[in-house]
Amino acid sequence: MKLNDTILKALNEQVVKEFYSAYLYRSMSSDMKAAGYKGYAHWLMKQYEEEVEHGEKIIAYIEDRDGTIDFGQIDAVASRFDCPLAVAEASLAHEQYVSESIRTIFKAARAEGDIETELFLQWFVNEQVEEEANATEVKAGFEAAGDCKGLRHMFDAQLGKR
Ligand SMILES: [Fe+2]
Ligand SMILES: [Fe+2]
Repeated sequence: MKLNDTILKALNEQVVKEFYSAYLYRSMSSDMKAAGYKGYAHWLMKQYEEEVEHGEKIIAYIEDRDGTIDFGQIDAVASRFDCPLAVAEASLAHEQYVSESIRTIFKAARAEGDIETELFLQWFVNEQVEEEANATEVKAGFEAAGDCKGLRHMFDAQLGKR
């Protein structure tokens, strides 16, 4: 069954948000690499790859429901961040924003009686719980390390194992 216009528009906007997320993590990874945090740079690269997959999942779903992808504008992202903790804080805030966006589409799908989209979005609802938990864990790690360079690099090495 073809998607209705409201849901199609919301899903198209979510595609852009997922690729924006990828772009943001890609930038964060590059900056952390430059700052000497190789482990966190690796962790952020994995995150980048996951975000591309999220975008692809939604594209495939829109295609399956006979919709057209908009491929809208992806905004620029910051290239420099203050420190690993600032990156972790920004990534958590971003994930919370994405979670809210998914919730909004989920509710719209429910209101429209689009049960297929509701079920499709369940995966994203669960994924966002995980994403927020991971971002919170990284933030806590860099918070605990504080100004101690040695501890920061120990935590960085741990993130490199992802
Ligand atoms: Fe995502
Ligand atoms: Fe994410």
